[in-house]
Amino acid sequence: MRSFMGRDILSLKEFERQEFFRVFEIAERLEPIARNRKNSDLLKDKTLVTAFYQPSTRTRLAHEAAMHRLGGHVTGFSDAKMTRAGDFYQESIKDTVKMLEFYGDVIVMRHFQQGAPHEAAKWSSVPIINGGDGWGEHPTQILTDLYTVLREKGRIDGLKWLAVGDMRMRTMHSLGYALSQFDCPITFVAPPEMSLLPEYKAELNQLSVNFREADHVEKAIADADVILVEPVVQPDYTKSRDERAGKDVGMTPANYKITRELLATKAKSDAILLHSLPRMDEIPPDVDITKWSRYWQEAFNGVVMRMALLALVLGAVE
Ligand code: CP
Repeated sequence: MRSFMGRDILSLKEFERQEFFRVFEIAERLEPIARNRKNSDLLKDKTLVTAFYQPSTRTRLAHEAAMHRLGGHVTGFSDAKMTRAGDFYQESIKDTVKMLEFYGDVIVMRHFQQGAPHEAAKWSSVPIINGGDGWGEHPTQILTDLYTVLREKGRIDGLKWLAVGDMRMRTMHSLGYALSQFDCPITFVAPPEMSLLPEYKAELNQLSVNFREADHVEKAIADADVILVEPVVQPDYTKSRDERAGKDVGMTPANYKITRELLATKAKSDAILLHSLPRMDEIPPDVDITKWSRYWQEAFNGVVMRMALLALVLGAVE
């Protein structure tokens, strides 16, 4: 297995099966630090730089929280408009990263351009973690989701997945790549205009992912052990910021909505429901307190997963 020390975390396409389990093992080992809310000093000599060119609640703050839990330091920006990359100069990723690498020991980057973290990694002497790049990938989120499945179900292999939402989403891409390393059939349910792109389908076929498509959650939910939902009413991920114009947003059609009634009448009793959040109306709030929902556990695991990744790429764990 390749070492994680000094490594960029850009895509799950490059992840090998034993590397997933290595990350999960470290996450499980570090989990008590987060659960007991007692910070450690594992990364006391290290600094995380957050470079966020797009809004984020979870990804940025979970990385920051993870660094604090491990006794490290944090600097960075959450709005590129307040940097030279977002003003008159439109400073390039190369020029920005050639500065940031001296401000810390690892950089987590979210960007509206697909491939921006990969470009950053070309120029950086410190590891780059992809916190979401345009429609590209969101590897740390899917690592969090897989870890949540492992913790909740005790295994990953042999579980059937249902993924609902916009298949152009970066999370869906990372999910498909990740499942190529596990024995997990998956059904995708998306509006026709948001369905899997032909080139991505070709990749999944090449990676031997066992997938099919359906047009309504009602037709696919009964078999699912893991139900992963993303919005179909959402912003344009290629923009640095996409604000809502008044109340001018659509409602989620029933085909892509997971309601309490649907779960109670059609889902397996022990299925688990994941959502990386934020949500619109695709999972109504009355689903939160049901036996299926695991998105709050997912939020906690998001901190634990970032602790594991930071400890690994910074060489604090062997
Ligand atoms: N799940 C996720 O990426 O959330 P944020 O956009 O808030 O980081």
